[in-house]
Amino acid sequence: MAERAAQLSVDGQTIDLAVLSPSEGYDAIDISALITEGYVTFDPGFMSTASCESSITYIDGDEGILLHRGYPIEQLSSSSNYLELTYLLLFGSLPTQSEFDAYKEKIRAETYVDDRLLALCATLPQHSHPMGIMCSLVGAMSAIFHHETDITDAASRDQVAIKLIAQMPICAAIAYRHSVGKPMLPAKPELAYGEHFLHLMFSEHEDDEVNPVLATAMDRIFLLHADHEQNASTSTVRLAGSTDANPYASIAAGIAALWGPSHGGANEAVLDMLAEMGSVDRIEEFVGKAKDSNDPFRLMGFGHRVYKNYDPRAKVMQQTCDEVLNELGVENDPVLQMARELERIALADDYFVQRRLYPNVDFYSGIILKAIGMPVELFTVIFVTGRTSGWIAQWKELVSEPYKIGRPRQMYTGSRNRDYVPIGAR
Ligand code: CMC
Repeated sequence: MAERAAQLSVDGQTIDLAVLSPSEGYDAIDISALITEGYVTFDPGFMSTASCESSITYIDGDEGILLHRGYPIEQLSSSSNYLELTYLLLFGSLPTQSEFDAYKEKIRAETYVDDRLLALCATLPQHSHPMGIMCSLVGAMSAIFHHETDITDAASRDQVAIKLIAQMPICAAIAYRHSVGKPMLPAKPELAYGEHFLHLMFSEHEDDEVNPVLATAMDRIFLLHADHEQNASTSTVRLAGSTDANPYASIAAGIAALWGPSHGGANEAVLDMLAEMGSVDRIEEFVGKAKDSNDPFRLMGFGHRVYKNYDPRAKVMQQTCDEVLNELGVENDPVLQMARELERIALADDYFVQRRLYPNVDFYSGIILKAIGMPVELFTVIFVTGRTSGWIAQWKELVSEPYKIGRPRQMYTGSRNRDYVPIGAR
C-alpha cells in the first residue's frame, strides 16, 4: 500500500497521519497512533471506521458492486456454486478440478449427524427459537472439539472451517425437525449442498428426491449470503476471535449478532410484517408509518447500511424468486402478492427514492423461502448456514497473520470521581 500523509490540526497542534490506499475503495487515514497524542476518534456505529485489512470481499455501495476475491457476485451466482465459493473465500483462488474434488471429499467426511448435538437439542423445549438452538449447537461444538482445535496450526484452522461448513446445514435441520417433532434423517453426503439441506429438512424418507429447481435456488441463497465483509456479525466473529477464543465459540457469537431484525433477522421480520399487514389494502398505511419520523416502524427488507444504490444480491435473488414462484405455481399466494405490491409501491415513493432505500437481499430471500414452505422462524437460520463460510474465512484471515485484540475506546460521559455515600446517608 502506497502511503501519503494527512495532517490533523487540533488547538494549534498538527499531527501527521499516514493515508493508506487499498486496492479498491476509500483511502484510509491511519489513526492508530492518535492515542499517544491524547486523542481518540468517536464513530458510533463505525460509520467511517475500517476495523481491519481484508482481501476477501469488496463492496462498492454506491455502484452496487460485490466482489469475492475479485470475482463479481453476478458471475459467481450464474456460473459457480456455494461450495466452490466457500473454497474461494477460504483459500483465495478458484480451485482446479482436483483441488475441488479433494475439498468436496473433506466436506463429505465431516457430513454426518452428531449424536451429541441431537441429544443436546432434545433437551430444549420444542417451541425454542431455532436461532437459539443454532447458538447452542455451535456453542456445544466449541466444547466438544476444543481439545482437537489448535488455532496456531494452519491445518487445524482449515479443519475447523471444513467441519463448520459441513455441519451447519445439519444443525439447521436438527433444529427444524426438533421444532416439528420429527426424527432426524441420516446424512447423505453424496448429495449436492443445497439439495442435501432440503433433503434433511423436508424429506419423509431417506430415498425421497428433492425438486432440482428448489435445490438450485437453495444453493443460490447460500451463495448470495456467504460473505459481506465487516458487517455486525462478521465483526463480532473477528472481535471474539481476536482474543484467541475457540473458533466455534466465535461463530456462535456471530450467530447471536446475526439474529437481530436490523441484520439477518430481517428476512423473518419481512414475513412477520406482511402477516401483520394482512392484505394489500393496508400497504399504504404501513408505508405511511414507515415514512412517519415520529413512528419507529421501518419497512423490513428495505434499505442497507452500505448499498445506497441497489443491492446486487437482491437483483440475483429477484430473478431466482421469479423462477421459484413460477416452478411452484404460487403466484396467487396472497402473502406473495402483498410482497410484490409493497415492492412496487415503495419503489415509486419519493421517500424511499430520495433516501435510496431499495428492497435488500432479505426481502426476496424471505419471499423465496416462504414459497418453498420454509417456516418463517427458520429464515435467519438459512442466512447463518450460508454466512458461516464467510465468518470462518474472515476468522482464518485474522488469525493467520499477527493481530491485536480488538479493544475500542469510548467517550465517557458519566459522573466524575465522587465519594461513596453509605446507604443510610443517601
Ligand atoms: N423503512 C423506512 N425508512 C427507512 C428504512 C426502512 N427500512 N431504512 C432506513 N430508513 C430511513 C431512516 O429513517 C432515515 O431517514 P431520515 O434520514 O429521514 O432520518 C434514512 O432512511 C437513513 O437511515 P439510517 O438508519 O441512517 O440507515 P442505516 O444505514 O443506519 O440503516 C438498516 C440500515 C439496514 C439498518 C435500515 O435500512 C433498516 O433498518 N432496514 C430495515 C431492516 C432490514 O431490512 N435489514 C436488513 C439489512 S440487509 C441484510 C444484512 O446485511 O444484514
